[in-house]
Order: sequence, then structure tokens, then C-alpha cells
Amino acid sequence: MNKNIGILTAGGDSPGLNAAIRAIGKSALSSGMHVIGFRDGFRGLMENRTLRLGLETLSSILTRGGTILGTSRDKPHKMPVGSEIMDMTQVICDNYRHHNLDALICIGGGGTQKNAYRLAQKGLNILTLPKTIDNDVAMTDVTFGFHTAMEIATEAIDRLHSTAHSHHRIIVVEIMGHNAGWLALGAGMAGGADVILIPEIPYDLEAITNAIRKRKQRGTNFSIVAVAEGALCLAEYQRYVGLKQAKSEAKEKEDGKALKKAEEALLEFAAHRSTNTLRLSQELEKMTGLESRVTILGYYQRGGTPSAADRMLATRLGSACVDYIAQGIGGVMIAADRDGTRAVPLAEVVGKKKLVPQDHPWVLAARKVGTCMGD
Ligand code: F6P
Repeated sequence: MNKNIGILTAGGDSPGLNAAIRAIGKSALSSGMHVIGFRDGFRGLMENRTLRLGLETLSSILTRGGTILGTSRDKPHKMPVGSEIMDMTQVICDNYRHHNLDALICIGGGGTQKNAYRLAQKGLNILTLPKTIDNDVAMTDVTFGFHTAMEIATEAIDRLHSTAHSHHRIIVVEIMGHNAGWLALGAGMAGGADVILIPEIPYDLEAITNAIRKRKQRGTNFSIVAVAEGALCLAEYQRYVGLKQAKSEAKEKEDGKALKKAEEALLEFAAHRSTNTLRLSQELEKMTGLESRVTILGYYQRGGTPSAADRMLATRLGSACVDYIAQGIGGVMIAADRDGTRAVPLAEVVGKKKLVPQDHPWVLAARKVGTCMGD
């Protein structure tokens, strides 16, 4: 089949990207298609920086972390060029045509799905794969990268247990996930954290302190608190919801001034969020009388070789994507659907986030085994 396929990886890197590139590349080549990679996300497509993906390049990348294509968070319609932010959509469309592409596969998280959809609306044939350690992309069972990151964070919690136990300390471990709690919840449960705080359940310091005090009364003088980077106490949560609402109202009314103000307030809010974990630890120390320490797992969670589950998922989605292209299907995200895949129209994916429902079976199970969820 004489088709030309482009691939790019965008957004934060995540384990399994190379497995997906390999699966797309090898499946496409074996069907007689040509594959070209664009470097550093949408920027490489704009700047015409490519990597030819032949069999030699695709060999031995299955187990490698990161992405051989490189990535960036640059958006086609808001691209920093020199000292300016420019709309480079037209240049990207021209380059797509210059390479005579029949399809462009964009591998990324929620932001990438949105950017890919914008290009699809300009007439490009776009397919996407859902990847992110946050697992927050809508309409797919799971995203690749999540499983590996959960393993890494779980192992970290395992290790933190012995030092917390030896020093009779609280250890507050901050776990990534943006505004979703999947990673902190999964790793917290698997690692047996005593308290798990996620963005979807605003926390109350008193409830956490009580849980730690109860353990102390039972003679257990240490506790592990797994906190998602986006977790908020009730007062902050209410402020955050207010700011988000102000933003969407300003957007609806097309009030540029109010929109700018709301966006700035949200940025300011996000900037101070990173100090929340430290503040939480200090408050817990004060309120429980136990020493408390903070560990921020950070980018460690995104690096390194993907787990077997993520290699499998990325291979399944990547090879299925080529089948969909061969069938002439486009404008879709290839979603994980139990053991199979499903092509979901991009319009149904964008603008949604898959958050943890408060009554999700994972939350219920955590509560049943006595984990404090902060409320
Ligand atoms: O989306 C993946 C993620 O690792 C989030 O968990 C985190 O909030 C964010 O990316 C960090 O982004 P950056 O790599 O731009 O610092």
C-alpha cells in the first residue's frame, strides 16, 4: 500500500513512546507504507526537521525510555518564534502537503489531542494515540506511560516505608499527575500509603491528623502520605473552582480583559501549588508532634524503560493505528478498549479530562482497607 505516514510525539515524554513509534513504523513498513518522523513535536513539523524511520532506526528502541523523535509542548497556533508567539498552523499544513503525507499520527496527552484536532479541522488526516503518565485522557481505558510511572512511584513508596519506620517520621511523598489523581491513587494503594490525597477529593488537615494520631495511639509512629501534585485543601479547592469558573465565563462572553486576568490568577495559583507539599508536611509536623519530611518524585517517574504492560499497550495501539489508516479511517484517537482498540472521533476526546470519580472502585477499596483519603 503506497501511503506516506508522518509521526510526531508531543507534550511531556512518557515511557512507551518508542514502543509506539516502533509498532507504527514496523507495521507500516510491512504493509508497504513509508514512514517519516518529525522531531520535537509540532515544532519539528513546522521547521521541517525530520527523521527517516527505516528498519535500522526502529530496531532496539522497544525498551528505551523517552522518545527518539524528541518532544516539546509547542502548539501549532501559539508557537514561540524568535521573541514572538505566532500562529504557525498554515506552515504546518504546507509542510504536511510538502511531504505528501496521507496521514499524520500525533502521540500525546490531552493537550496534543486538542492541537491535533485543530489540524484535523484544517483538513489534515490526523490520527492520535493517547499517552501520558497522568492517565487523564478521556475516552480510553488507559494511556501508555501510566503503568510504568505507577510502578516507579510504588517502588519509591516501598523504599520510603523503611526509613519512615526507622525514624518514626511522617514522609509526605509528592506524586505527579497534573490535575488528576490516578497516579497518586494507584501508587498509594499499591505501596500501602496510610494517607492518599488526590485533586478530586479536597482534603481537610484535621482528618489527616486524626488518621495519623490514631496510628500513633496504636503504637505506629510513622506514616506515609502520598499526595498528588494537584491535591488541594478545601479552601484552596473552592478558590481554584472559582478561578476556573471566572475563566470559562470570560471565554463565553469573549471578554479578553477578564480572560487575561483569570488566566494570570490561575497561573499564579499553579505557581504556588508547588510549595503546598512542603506546607502540608510542616502543618502535619505541628499538628501531630511527629517529625515530617518531604520527597518529591518529580521527573524520575517519567524516565527509563517502560513496563511490560506499557510496551504491550503501545504496541497494540500503534499497530492498530496503521490498520485504521489502511482502512481509510482518520480524525480519530486510537483508544484502548479492554483487550482491543476503538477509533474515537477526536471531537469526542478534546475538551474532556478523565478524572477519578469519587466513587471509583479504587477509591472505595482504598477506604475499605483503612486508607485516609483526606476527607
Ligand atoms: O503530563 C505529564 C506530567 O509529567 C504531569 O504529571 C506534570 O504535571 C507535567 O507533565 C510536568 O510538565 P513539564 O514536563 O512541562 O515540567
